[in-house]
Amino acid sequence: RGRIRTHHLREMKERGERFSMLTAYEQYAAQTFDEAGIEVLLVGDSASNNVYGNETSLPVTVDELLPLTRAVSRSVKRALVVGDLPFGSYQRSPEQAYDTAVRFMKEGGAHCVKLEGGREMTPQIELLTRGGVPVMAHIGFTPQSEHALGGYRVQGRGDTASRILDDAHAIQDAGAFAVVMEMVPGDVAGQVTKELTIPTIGIGAGPDCDAQVLVWQDAFGLRSGKMAKFVKQYADVRAVLLDAARTYAAEVKDGTFPGPEHTF
Ligand code: KIV
Ligand code: NA
Repeated sequence: RGRIRTHHLREMKERGERFSMLTAYEQYAAQTFDEAGIEVLLVGDSASNNVYGNETSLPVTVDELLPLTRAVSRSVKRALVVGDLPFGSYQRSPEQAYDTAVRFMKEGGAHCVKLEGGREMTPQIELLTRGGVPVMAHIGFTPQSEHALGGYRVQGRGDTASRILDDAHAIQDAGAFAVVMEMVPGDVAGQVTKELTIPTIGIGAGPDCDAQVLVWQDAFGLRSGKMAKFVKQYADVRAVLLDAARTYAAEVKDGTFPGPEHTF
């Protein structure tokens, strides 16, 4: 089993074979998900919340994401590693986007990059694609535009569905190899998936996408607190860590640890 390439994802779509994507921000999660057969690992700008302790994805910087991207790309044997371009690092111009993307590939070892936006991002997508940077687009609810969009809300309801379809076609025509659709009604996402030849990757976009993505700390229960409706919890990693940490602390306190077997 060799590396997953962007063309493999398109071939999977042609065969009607779904694939999965998860976030990863460091070595052990990346190795584990790679071994589990997750085809695509995203070093998301959601590291802003999940690594750096911010409340939104807006504050995270290129310089903060690059070391995480390098850690993940060094740790996988098979998965396609996507570097997520953070807010402010690509919107100003195609040239700005290209310079940022090159850093993610050269310094971060990313195999491709993701950026948020539809029609308005086609100049960026065209220049990156021409310059050897495969681009994954991201439409629907785009968290970097939270304040412009007026909060976390489903995009493409009712008569705004055609905007999502137009954006999807525009980014495909510009050369994107895949598109994430976030918080889009299931029927709209299904229609986009049917009309596009590139794979669609849903998060809160229903069952008819070609692939799915989740933030692993949400899906596997490292993060506690309120979850979006689209998150399914597959594990309770936080409970495992909490129990282990409490047991360790108790054993140190009462002198059970270290035992003779841990002592030189
Ligand atoms: O940063 C991120 O985690 C993402 C996914 C939710 C698609 O962009
Ligand atoms: Na992101």
